[in-house]
Amino acid sequence: MKSVKDMFDLTGKVAVITGGAGMLGQKHAEAIGEFSGIPVIVDINQERCDEVAEKISQQFGVRSLGVDADITKQENVDALQAKILDEFGQVDILINNAANNPAVGSAGLDGVNGSRLEAFSLENWNQDIAVGLTGSFLCSRTLGATMAKNGGGVILNIASDLALISPDQRLYQQPGLAKKAQTVKPVTYSVVKSGLIGLTRYLATYWVEEGVRCNALSPGGVYIDQQDSFVHHLSQLIPMNRMAHKDEYKAAVVFMVSDASSYMNGSNLVIDGGRTVW
Ligand SMILES: NC(=O)c1ccc[n+]([C@@H]2O[C@H](COP(=O)([O-])OP(=O)(O)OC[C@H]3O[C@@H](n4cnc5c(N)ncnc54)[C@H](O)[C@@H]3O)[C@@H](O)[C@H]2O)c1
Repeated sequence: MKSVKDMFDLTGKVAVITGGAGMLGQKHAEAIGEFSGIPVIVDINQERCDEVAEKISQQFGVRSLGVDADITKQENVDALQAKILDEFGQVDILINNAANNPAVGSAGLDGVNGSRLEAFSLENWNQDIAVGLTGSFLCSRTLGATMAKNGGGVILNIASDLALISPDQRLYQQPGLAKKAQTVKPVTYSVVKSGLIGLTRYLATYWVEEGVRCNALSPGGVYIDQQDSFVHHLSQLIPMNRMAHKDEYKAAVVFMVSDASSYMNGSNLVIDGGRTVW
């Protein structure tokens, strides 16, 4: 029998992290590196991917690879997989973490802010769905099939507390602006995050006989120097009365991608300071 400590060990496991050069992606990669896994940083800028991979290699003494790939394109995902198999000969873990962060400005129809539903463009809709859902589908289809063929693996989808609850649009209101000029959390955020929970359940059963597990992690909002009024109002919606620190999901990621969670499949782990229970 493995010790509990050994269950968390990721030695030699190749872990693909989409959006790996982003804020939380880097944290997932650090967590994997700390437990001796091999993080593959996938993002849309080679330089940023290389920087993160290099930093993690230095910090934890592990191998790491940065790959510039637009996950909305099958040919990029195929090239990503070819590079990984060429370099390491295997893929064990996929973290579907990338998200589109569109600059939703004030432009829109008839003076309506472009983030609002009435003015939200089809182009923005398509871009957000492409990264959040289509990208996760393409990576899961390609890398998941390889894991299934080669004896198993783990897929972790990064959802959000907003996969469970509606955004509280009052949080995004700026004083003195007419309603139609107010920015809102876009509809795509709710749709992508809810869709990832469905993808999680689908994938949890699809390759289960081949040893591929799939779960979702739903984090609450992370503190990154947002406006004081936003932080204050959001904190009041959270029983723990604060936002998350960016390191507070790392232990959960290691748990979810390692044998420590070997009987966990099709679940959504919510870590949100209690926001969704209120
Ligand atoms: N930050 C939070 O408070 C929070 C809360 C809950 C959930 N999340 C989720 O966690 C994940 C990471 O969030 P984050 O705050 O680190 O965001 P981030 O914007 O810092 O990182 C997202 C990364 O995805 C990359 N990306 C975008 N399009 C891509 C594409 N086509 N191909 C490959 N990579 C692409 C971006 O370049 C970026 O580096 C997201 O799914 C987000 O929705 C974040």
